[in-house]
Parts: sequence; C-alpha cells; structure tokens
Amino acid sequence: MVRFLASLVGAAFVLVLGIALWGSISGVITDPSPATAEQRYYHHPIEDVHFASDGVFGHYDKQQLQRGYQVYKEVCAACHSLRQVAFRDLAALGYEDAQVKALAAQWDTISSINPDTGETATRKGVPSDHFPHVYPNDIAARAANGGAVPPDLSLMAKARHDGTHYIYSLVGHGYVAQPAALIRDFPDAVTPKGRYFNQYFANLNIAMPPPLKTEGQVEYADGTRPTVDQMAKDVAAFLTWAAEPKLETRHAAGLGALAFILIFCFLAWGAYQNVWRDLKH
Ligand code: HEC
Repeated sequence: MVRFLASLVGAAFVLVLGIALWGSISGVITDPSPATAEQRYYHHPIEDVHFASDGVFGHYDKQQLQRGYQVYKEVCAACHSLRQVAFRDLAALGYEDAQVKALAAQWDTISSINPDTGETATRKGVPSDHFPHVYPNDIAARAANGGAVPPDLSLMAKARHDGTHYIYSLVGHGYVAQPAALIRDFPDAVTPKGRYFNQYFANLNIAMPPPLKTEGQVEYADGTRPTVDQMAKDVAAFLTWAAEPKLETRHAAGLGALAFILIFCFLAWGAYQNVWRDLKH
C-alpha cells in the first residue's frame, strides 16, 4: 500500500514537472523574448581586412608597428597605459639601441615618492622602464573619464575575441550616428550623456570619446597617408604585437614541428616498406 502511494506521489511530481517544462518550452516557441537593442545593432568586428599577423604564416610588418606605436603614443597614451611593455621591447619594431634610448627618454616615469607629502618626482625614461601609468590611481582615472577606467592596453588584443580586428573596428569604424530606428524602437537605449554610440562595443554605448577623428591626426614619417582607417589598422597591429611579441617565433616553431612530423611520416613509411619487403601481406 505504502509502495503504491509513494509511486503515485512520484508520478504526480513527474506530471507537474512535465507540465511546467512544456509550458516553458511552448512559451519560448510561441512568445520569444523581444530582441534587445544590443542584439539588433551590435556588429561583429570587420573581418574583411588583412593584417600581416593573420593566419598560420602571420608575421609582423615592422613599418606598420612603428606607425602603430606613433598612434598609441600621440593619441591613446593620453588615457591608456601599456604596463606590460618595456621600452627596450621596442627594439623588436626595428629600432636601433640609440633610437630605443631616445624613445624611452620621451616618456616621464616616477623616480621617487616623498614619504612625508606623497608627492611624486619624475625623471626621463630609460630602456629598462615600462610604459608609465597615465593616472595615479583608478579614482583619478574614473573622474577624468566619465566614470569609466580606461583599461591597460598591453593585453587587450588577447582579452577580446578576435582582438586585432575588434580594436581596428572599434576605433576606426565604430563611431556612427545612432540609427534612427534604434531610437524609435528602443527609447531606453538612447546613448546617455557622457557615452558615445559605438556599434562594435558590446553594450553599444562606450565611455571613450572617438579617439581617431580626422585624417592627418598623426603625421607618418614614412609618407603613409594617415587616414582614420589607416591609423586604426596600425594601432591595432601595434597592440597585437604588444599582446603577443613572440607570435613569429611561435609560428616558426609550429611550422618546424609540422615539417618534422612530415619527414618522420616518410621515414616511418620507408621503414615499413623495408621491414615487410620480402613478406607477402
Ligand atoms: C580620452 C581618453 C581616451 C583616449 C584618448 C583613448 N581611449 Fe580607449 N578607452 C577610454 C575609456 C574611458 C575606455 C573605457 C570605456 C568603457 O568601459 O565604456 C576605453 C576603452 C578602450 C578599449 C576597450 C574596449 C572594451 O572592449 O572594453 C579599447 C580597445 C580602447 N579603448 C582602445 C583605444 C585606442 C586604440 C586608442 C587610441 C587610438 C584609445 N583607446 C584612446 C578612453 C580613451
């Protein structure tokens, strides 16, 4: 009797759960949750642009990295630090030792903090220094940027999916006028004051004002035309290098390993032929 009752209670439970499950599934099918402004207007990064570092044979275009460094220094460094990179690493961009020294000296770095007043003293950078902090602390960074802290860019190219193309799209092509249809369909999603509509930023409204605005914002020494698109491409390439300076070594090691495996396959095949030469099989 007890057994029968227990089964009955169990069956009732299963029935109730089944009804609830069916209710949820049919609800999702017949009445899907309405699309949000992000789902409708967010764009995936532009893929239709080639970077030298793309693909298995990817390498760095040193001339482009030097241009990207210039964009970072003259534009992005006003807000973003690059703490994981040391000035001496810039030698990888094709600079001679003396040039690296001169580049380092263009940056100020904190040399000491007064133990009584907390005041800082600065000196010129040397190659072993890392790129300096931009703000003394996050509170100051937030206060200067409408409540958002500009993230360190050292690993940004790795921290975002498809980082190279993402950075290029975000700063080069993301700032467009907010579509009228968006404002009409999603009045709540209108870009608030102090934010900027950017179709490649996950929530569409970014606290970073458009950093690259006009052609000629930087002047390239190699004569490349500094369009917004070009500057965005160059700085994206530079930040890709910053996040993965050993990419070329990694690719070379990978290709070397593949070549080794290929040769080994031939050797194994040759050995197999040799061993079974006189045997019918
Ligand atoms: C005036 C200050 C300022 C300048 C100049 C600036 N940024 Fe930003 N940046 C910000 C702020 C603030 C954020 C944080 C945005 C947020 O979280 O809404 C940010 C965020 C970013 C992000 C991260 C976006 C994400 O997915 O979280 C990237 C990448 C970026 N900036 C790249 C650049 C590049 C490249 C340059 C130079 C061409 C640059 N920024 C120049 C202030 C600036």
